[in-house]
Amino acid sequence: MKAIAICGSPREGGNTEYYLKTVLGELAQKGVETEYIPMLDKTVKPCRGCYGCLQAKKCVQDDDFEAIFQKMEQADIIILGSPVYVGKPTSLLQALLERVTFSARASGRMLSGKVGAPVTVARRAGQVYAFGELLLWYFINDMVIPGSMYWNVAVAGAKGAKDADKDLEGIEIMKYTAANLLKVATALQNSKAEGAAVARDKLFFTQPAEK
Ligand SMILES: Cc1cc2nc3c(=O)[nH]c(=O)nc-3n(C[C@H](O)[C@H](O)[C@H](O)COP(=O)(O)O)c2cc1C
Repeated sequence: MKAIAICGSPREGGNTEYYLKTVLGELAQKGVETEYIPMLDKTVKPCRGCYGCLQAKKCVQDDDFEAIFQKMEQADIIILGSPVYVGKPTSLLQALLERVTFSARASGRMLSGKVGAPVTVARRAGQVYAFGELLLWYFINDMVIPGSMYWNVAVAGAKGAKDADKDLEGIEIMKYTAANLLKVATALQNSKAEGAAVARDKLFFTQPAEK
């Protein structure tokens, strides 16, 4: 079992990193192989809408995207974390997620059946929009999202403080989320049930007319 956490914060050692590492730490204690993937040292440009992925069967932009996509393909559990920036996940993370969604479909390298959950961190407001936006990403990528004791949100970072350790409720939510991620991923791994076969020729933007 492998779990990765992708962090959309541009700050090293920041609050989002702290909560993501809390989730990964819990999973590691249960024997899961874990990897933390910060976006801050990666170059992943925004999708340029060229539709080159339809012909090439992969994203045609040459940057750090493909290496991260491969790690996502190899993972059983994918946790996405972002600070709330003006009510949204950061553009660092959003650029990756837009390209993953299109190239996953165009290439047939779907993330179907993988388990995951979002984590968002805000100083005060905008959690619902940012968290909801990440939920939508999991949903359209045919992934499975376990619930938790609350939304996986934490409160930290007034005036840029790196004070994630003070939100004790947030930390407990992350630990609970980790337990649920593992429970669901294990159940799916042991299950013989099959999901829907992905009818790739029915996916709307692989139709020639949509090009
Ligand atoms: C450009 C920018 C936009 C932000 N927008 C919001 C916001 O909409 N709502 C909020 O509560 N906090 C906002 N914050 C505060 C961060 O979400 C908060 O400090 C968070 O803990 C930072 O996480 P990090 O340490 O992982 O980078 C913003 C911070 C920056 C730099």
